Order: sequence, then C-alpha cells, then structure tokens
Amino acid sequence: MPNILFAYSTVDGQTQKIAERLSREVTGKVSVKRFEEVTSIKDFDKVIVGSSIRYGKFPKKLYRFVEENQELLEERHADFYGVNLIARTPEKCQVENNVYVRKFLEKTTWKPKDVCIFAGALKYTTYRLFDKKMIQLIMKITKGPTDSRVDLEFTDWQQVTQFAERINQEINR
Ligand SMILES: Cc1cc2nc3c(=O)[nH]c(=O)nc-3n(C[C@H](O)[C@H](O)[C@H](O)COP(=O)(O)O)c2cc1C
Repeated sequence: MPNILFAYSTVDGQTQKIAERLSREVTGKVSVKRFEEVTSIKDFDKVIVGSSIRYGKFPKKLYRFVEENQELLEERHADFYGVNLIARTPEKCQVENNVYVRKFLEKTTWKPKDVCIFAGALKYTTYRLFDKKMIQLIMKITKGPTDSRVDLEFTDWQQVTQFAERINQEINR
C-alpha cells in the first residue's frame, strides 16, 4: 500500500478539513499533518501539500516547507492545493485566473504534479472584529455575502472527490 502524506497549514480549519476528506478518499496508508509536525517526507510515496490564503498571501511556513523539501517533493510527484474565497466562482478555480495560486507558482521553483484550487469557508461569527470588517469589505467588493451573522462553506466537495480520484489514479497505476 502506498504511503501518502497530506501536509498542510490552516488558520480556521478548512484546509485541514479538506486534507482529512482527501485522506479518507485515497487508497493507501495516510498521514495528515501540519507542516510543523512533519519531520521528514522521505518515507512517503506521495505528498499532497495544502495551504490557505490570508490577506492575499500564503503563509511563510508554506514557502519554508516547500524550500526545505523541494527535492523530495519533486521526486515524490507532490501535488498542491490552495484554499481561498475568490475560488467560490468556478473560473477562479483555474490557476490562470486565481491570482494567489498563480503568484505562488511563479515565486517557487517547485513544480507540483497536480494543482487544485478550492473555495474555503467564511466564518464571520468566529472572526475578530478587525478581520470581520475586512472580510466584509472584500466580500462587498467581490459581490459576496456580507451578513456577518451567517457562516458559509463554499468548498465544492465533489471537486475534492475528483482531486482524490486523480491521486488514486496516479498512485495505483
Ligand atoms: C483574516 C482573513 C483574511 C482572508 N483573506 C483572503 C483573501 O485575501 N483572499 C481570499 O480569497 N480569501 C481570503 N480569506 C479566506 C480564507 O482563505 C478562507 O476562509 C479559507 O477557508 C481559510 O482556510 P483555513 O481555515 O484553512 O485557514 C481570508 C480569511 C480570513 C479569516
């Protein structure tokens, strides 16, 4: 059975939730870990890296993880998925239309085997006041929901399943 690692960073849990869903849908011996919990990726046959956007940026720990493991990530044909709220429209799930993922791939010399972009969650009721106001502003500009009494999950779980299927096809070839 292939050894598969899902390595991620998350702030409010959505990237982790996606990693956990993917891990249940792939066929293999799975590990789901935050970047800081990963000591080495050398014992894994396949690695899937996930991270989310905050104020237009992926976290430094993503860049650090990729930099520290780049050679093995290339060897293990590692995939990448990014989570953000602009991806709530299908066209922004395309790399060329998603500014965050496009920029990340331009900045790093790592070439993931597969790249997927998922819409995240809007958890107004849990945000600090400043974040709530900022997200409301971003939502207003991008014509999204602004009612801060309502939490919403935009992740398309069918799209997550399709990504898991692609991983299965590759590792069980
Ligand atoms: C403070 C804050 C800033 C955010 N900034 C952006 C942003 O600039 N662009 C975007 O598309 N989504 C943005 N998001 C949405 C997150 O990417 C989304 O909520 C995602 O589900 C977070 O994933 P996580 O829970 O794994 O960290 C932001 C969310 C928060 C709370």
